[in-house]
Amino acid sequence: MAELKATPIVALDVPDATSALALVRRLGGECGFYKVGSELFTAAGPSVVRAIRELGHEVFLDLKFHDIPNTVAGAIKSAVSTGASMLTIHASGGAEMIRAAVDAAGPECRVMGVTVLTSFTAEGLGAAWGRVGVSVDDEVTRLAGLCSAAGAHGIVCSGHEASMVRQRYPALSPLVPGIRFADGAAHDQARVMTPGAAVAAGARYLVIGRAVTGDSDPAAAMARVNQEIGRVG
Ligand code: C5P
Repeated sequence: MAELKATPIVALDVPDATSALALVRRLGGECGFYKVGSELFTAAGPSVVRAIRELGHEVFLDLKFHDIPNTVAGAIKSAVSTGASMLTIHASGGAEMIRAAVDAAGPECRVMGVTVLTSFTAEGLGAAWGRVGVSVDDEVTRLAGLCSAAGAHGIVCSGHEASMVRQRYPALSPLVPGIRFADGAAHDQARVMTPGAAVAAGARYLVIGRAVTGDSDPAAAMARVNQEIGRVG
């Protein structure tokens, strides 16, 4: 049996609970977590998280919290009470906010710090932050350092930064979105990687959205992901 090297997560980027639960029933246990993000959560609320839990699956609540530490801690306590066992914050919220998030999440829920969104290029990032000559690698490393010091479980980065983060902060688990098959479209993602290449680069979790959910046969696309990353059952 091949060694399980990374956990795939399917992003339920759909507008309502009915479509989300249909995908969950179709894909079953072929992934480790189902990701509920802002589109689905804003439409369907915490009940969709509970419904996925009731079907026996883990939920990654990707709401990318970014606020004052006290507010983030409150949001995270609410998230944990829905049954989410992994969630995201923006690492750029700073050390105090990340520590408040980790404390509020407790031992049952993993906190992942978003470093630089995978839709950003270096130019786009520099323009957004009002700086010239910004290096994505440097910013990811700097933000990963904040997450590491504050005790986060992992960070969100592209596959292109995963090995660098893993070398520098071996205890942090990289979660990599922007996953595409070699013959697939990139859509709005700027820094994409195939499932196999992302795992080889050190990804511990892979977030897969449109490459699976946008396929005419999502179960077959999911099987292709699992085959590429050597995941068995
Ligand atoms: O469809 P696609 O595979 O591009 O979906 C990627 C998912 O991962 C989306 O839900 C997106 O919000 C999320 N994500 C991302 N980049 C990050 C963090 C999360 O694309 N840095």
